[in-house]
Amino acid sequence: MELLIDALHVLAACAWVGGSVTIVAVAVPYGRGLAPRERALMLAEIGRRWRPIGWSALALLVVTGIAAAAEHGGFADARFGRLLVAKVAVVGALLLVTGLHDFVVAPRLRRGLAAGKRPSRRATVALGWASLLLTLAAPVLGVALAAAVSGD
Ligand code: HEM
Repeated sequence: MELLIDALHVLAACAWVGGSVTIVAVAVPYGRGLAPRERALMLAEIGRRWRPIGWSALALLVVTGIAAAAEHGGFADARFGRLLVAKVAVVGALLLVTGLHDFVVAPRLRRGLAAGKRPSRRATVALGWASLLLTLAAPVLGVALAAAVSGD
């Protein structure tokens, strides 16, 4: 059971991190060659298709992560517990920042552009980069947790 939980956790992390990095490393630079409206519409469409996959992967990460943490005694061990607090904080911030990006500011930007206005992109861009940073921090803490489990 422990192996299954860890395998699902790592596979879901691959899906979330891989998809997020692909959007930032491929779709965002491609969009820079387009006019602002086309760029926003292209990214909005990619986001619409990515969201069900990405949020399913995030949900699976939270469920399997909690199960893995419980298997290892939660906060009972001091070193593991400290790393777990850090990871839960990072993942909590990731869910908040990504939720605001995906469900509040990016749709507002898209609606503004569709209505022919020129809305600011600042909040959408800032939250997008913050989401990527937190996305990269979570697996680093995950590897540190796995090392704490094996006593390295
Ligand atoms: C509330 C959410 C989460 C919790 C409670 C959690 C907890 C854990 C725990 C306890 C481990 C160690 C598992 C073991 O060694 O048996 C782990 C490993 C890991 N986690 Fe998470 N995690 C969460 C979310 C995430 C997210 C969002 C990502 C990626 C973006 C992620 C990526 C990883 C990776 C890559 C490992 C390393 C696995 C290994 O090296 O064997 N986790 N996590």
